Amino acid sequence: MTQRYAVVLAAGQGSRMKSKLYKVLHPVAGKPMVGHVIEQVEATGASKIVTIVGFGAEKVKDYLGDRTNYAVQEEQLGTGHAVIQAETHLKNKDGITLVICGDTPLLSAETLNNLFDYHQKKGAKATILTAHAQDPTGYGRVIRNEENYVEKIVEQKDANDTEKLVQEVNTGTYCFDNKLLFETLSQVGNENSQGEYYLPDVIEILKNQNEIVDAYIMTSENEGMGVNDRVALAEASRLMRRRINTMHMQNGVTLIDPMTTYIDSDVTIGSDTIIEPNVTLKGKTIIGEDCFVGAHSEIVNGTIGDGVRVTNSSIKDSVMEKDSNIGPYSHLRPNSHIGESVHIGNFVEIKNATIGKTSKVGHLTYVGDADLGENINIGCGTIFVNYDGKNKFRTTVGNNVFIGCNANLIAPLTIEENVYIAAGSTITKDVPTQAMAIARARQENKLEYYNKLPH
Ligand code: UD1
Ligand code: MG
Repeated sequence: MTQRYAVVLAAGQGSRMKSKLYKVLHPVAGKPMVGHVIEQVEATGASKIVTIVGFGAEKVKDYLGDRTNYAVQEEQLGTGHAVIQAETHLKNKDGITLVICGDTPLLSAETLNNLFDYHQKKGAKATILTAHAQDPTGYGRVIRNEENYVEKIVEQKDANDTEKLVQEVNTGTYCFDNKLLFETLSQVGNENSQGEYYLPDVIEILKNQNEIVDAYIMTSENEGMGVNDRVALAEASRLMRRRINTMHMQNGVTLIDPMTTYIDSDVTIGSDTIIEPNVTLKGKTIIGEDCFVGAHSEIVNGTIGDGVRVTNSSIKDSVMEKDSNIGPYSHLRPNSHIGESVHIGNFVEIKNATIGKTSKVGHLTYVGDADLGENINIGCGTIFVNYDGKNKFRTTVGNNVFIGCNANLIAPLTIEENVYIAAGSTITKDVPTQAMAIARARQENKLEYYNKLPH
């Protein structure tokens, strides 16, 4: 089989983004644009991927790691100049090289494979991936001759009025005969309105050498969109969301309103789960089957077991085991582990804590830095007092403990299993098993006192 290689262009600063973050690291559906590109390129079976880095090189390398080789483009002199930097990795190799930009996050492996196949079938030396754009502004235009053969690509800034009317645009993605690509790049000049070495000029040079150049026209206009500014970023995010949501619905997930459901690309969801409007699922969130995620919930890197109900709550870096439930208006902060069939009610905050199965934390409670056993009942308004202003301390509560309402548990503290804590107690000492702890002032009834007070 013909070898496939890929060059990913990611050295530009992306000045039109007006951002401190390098363009290709801007996320679309929770993943940097260049991450989407590399993922799809990997799926084409490319045996060697070279990413061209320049601006923000270290940040891009940190993110992509060893999934790709790197070549540094010290000065951003244009896309043609960028590809030349890959020469040391690819020169003299037989095969086909895909060149793709780091700012086209919507291109799918399927389209890239179609491009490879078309290129090979046509015996072409260069094939451009093109699309028909309603509004071609900003893109390079594909100029064809009277016989409809591709002649060249003209950039927006260099195009004359007739050329500007052309709606077939260059997506910035190409297949090239690898050896010929590097031979030709050295002939590319920079006499154009931007003074840059344009990769698309390779097309005209090859054409003039009577090599076969062709264009594979994509059916979807949107997939080839390049993100150069924040307006395009929002549009790409919208399209990516629609793609992700469609995939989940096809897998058996009910989205009540897909238009207002925000799911990052790496999230997984089991079948028969129902997701209400204005839900955001981010990062590496995993949701099981038969769950309910109610309106306005946000889950970031959550692991949610089967049959869990989340009602209008926030969950971050935490686990909820099967058949547990939370909300409305509750908050799992990082490192919380909620056991099977646990009930977390409303206005509850949990941080860095484990809660054993069938325990209940129903209302208005803070559980911070604690390890709770099974079958515990935490009364309304209980506070795990974990912080003395300088340090944090943990509390341990054994199985079958009943904590009355409005208790303060001052850490560090161990409450052994089978214990009662009386409502309103401020507990400062460990409680042994089988005990009932009560720590509050005794009540005194001052009889006949009512009439002594002004009213
Ligand atoms: C480019 C194409 C244009 C095409 C459009 C598709 C050129 C000259 N133009 O224009 O025909 O319609 O993409 O989206 O190629 N980069 C480098 N080094 C550089 C310059 C750019 O690595 O010196 C990288 C950028 O990081 C980016 C990609 O190349 O990922 C494309 O550069 P960009 O400036 O976005 O080109 P466009 O103006 O969009
Ligand atoms: Mg671009």
